[in-house]
Amino acid sequence: MKNILITGGAGFIGTNFAYYLTKNKPQYTLTIIDSCNYAGDEQNLEDIRDKITFVKGDITNKELINDLVAKNDAVVHFAAESHNDNSLNDPWPFVQSNILGTYTILEAVRKHGKRLHHISTDEVFGDLELDDPERFNENTPYNPSSPYSSTKASSDLLVRAWVRSFNVKATISNCSNNYGPYQHIEKFIPRQITNILSGIKPKLYGSGEQVRDWIHVDDHNAAVALILEKGKLGETYLIGADGEKNNKEVIETILRLMGKSTSDYEHVKDRPGHDMRYAIDSTKLRSELGWQPQYTKFADGLKQTIEWYKTNQAWWQPQKDAVEAKYQAQGQ
Ligand code: NAD
Ligand code: TYD
Repeated sequence: MKNILITGGAGFIGTNFAYYLTKNKPQYTLTIIDSCNYAGDEQNLEDIRDKITFVKGDITNKELINDLVAKNDAVVHFAAESHNDNSLNDPWPFVQSNILGTYTILEAVRKHGKRLHHISTDEVFGDLELDDPERFNENTPYNPSSPYSSTKASSDLLVRAWVRSFNVKATISNCSNNYGPYQHIEKFIPRQITNILSGIKPKLYGSGEQVRDWIHVDDHNAAVALILEKGKLGETYLIGADGEKNNKEVIETILRLMGKSTSDYEHVKDRPGHDMRYAIDSTKLRSELGWQPQYTKFADGLKQTIEWYKTNQAWWQPQKDAVEAKYQAQGQ
C-alpha cells in the first residue's frame, strides 16, 4: 500500500489526517479529493502543498471517483456533511454526500478491488442515559436520532453489506466527538473559543447536562492510520479516549483557560431531539491493535486548541458574523 486517496481531506479531521501522515508516514503518496463545501478549504493544506495532490471534486461524481480509486491503493473516506444542526435545517445534502457519496466510493473500490477505510461516528448508536453504566461497543445496535447520524448509519450499513456481499476489503471506525485545530466554528468547542475572542458570550444549549466523549483529533487520526495498516478486514473499531464531559463543564473549562469568569455564558434554545450522552468503550482497538491516546488531559489539548484559534484569527474571522447570524435566527 503506497498511494492513498483521502476524501474530505480539506475539512477538519481530513486536513489533520493529511498533516499527520506527511509527518509520521512519509512513505505514502497522498491524493486528496474534496468538494470544498463551507467547511472545507484547499488553503488548509497550504503547508504540505508540495507533498500532496489536491483534486477539487464531489464524491458523488462516479467517473471522477472511478478514475481516482483506480490510481490509488487505498481510500480513507472522511468526506461527509458533518453538523447535526445543519441536518435539522436541510437534510438533503446529508443524504447526497453521506449516503450516495459512500455508495459511489463503494462501487469504485468494488470494481477496482481496492482497500477502503470508512470513517464514522458514535452517533450511529443513538444516545445513552446519564446514569447508564454501559458504553457503546462494537456490538451496540444502531439507533440514530438525527438526519446527520441516520445518514452516517446508512453509510456504515452500506459498507457492511458491500463487505459481506461483494468481499470489499473494508474496515469501519466509529469515533466520538473530536476537537483540535481547523474545526469549523459552527461546532461546539471552536464556537465558544471564537465567541470569547470576539467578545460574545458562550452559548449553552438547554441545561448543558448532555455528555460528549471528547478526543483530540490527532488521537483519532493515529487510530485511523493504525486500522488502515493493521485492522482486520471486515471489522469495525470504536475510537474513544475516555473523555466524557458534560457541555456545562466544557464551557466552564474554556472560560477558565481563557481567563474569564466561569459563569460568563448564556443558556440558549435546546437542539430538537438532542442526544443526551455518548460514551465509547475502545477496549477492542486498544487490546487488538495496541492504540493509546496521547492527549490524556483534556485541559492540555484544549489549551493547545485555544492557542491555535488565537493565532489563526484570519482563518475563522471572515465566517464568524454569518455563523452567529444563522444561530441567532434559530434562537441559539
Ligand atoms: P468537516 O465538515 O469539517 O469536513 C468534511 C469535509 O468533507 C469538508 O471538507 C467537505 O468539503 C467535504 N465534503 C462534504 N461533502 C462532500 C462531497 N459530496 N464530495 C467531496 N467532499 C465533500 O467534518 P469533520 O468533522 O472533519 O468530519 C469528517 C468525518 O469524520 C465525517 O465523516 C464525520 O462523520 C466523521 N466524524 C466526525 C467527528 C467529529 O467530532 N467531527 C467524530 C466522529 C466522526
Ligand atoms: P456539536 O459540536 O454540534 O457536536 P455533536 O452534535 O456532534 O455532539 O455539539 C456538541 C454538544 O454541544 C452538543 O450536545 C450540542 C452542544 N452545543 C451547545 O451547547 N452550544 C453550541 O453552541 C453548540 C454548537 C453545541
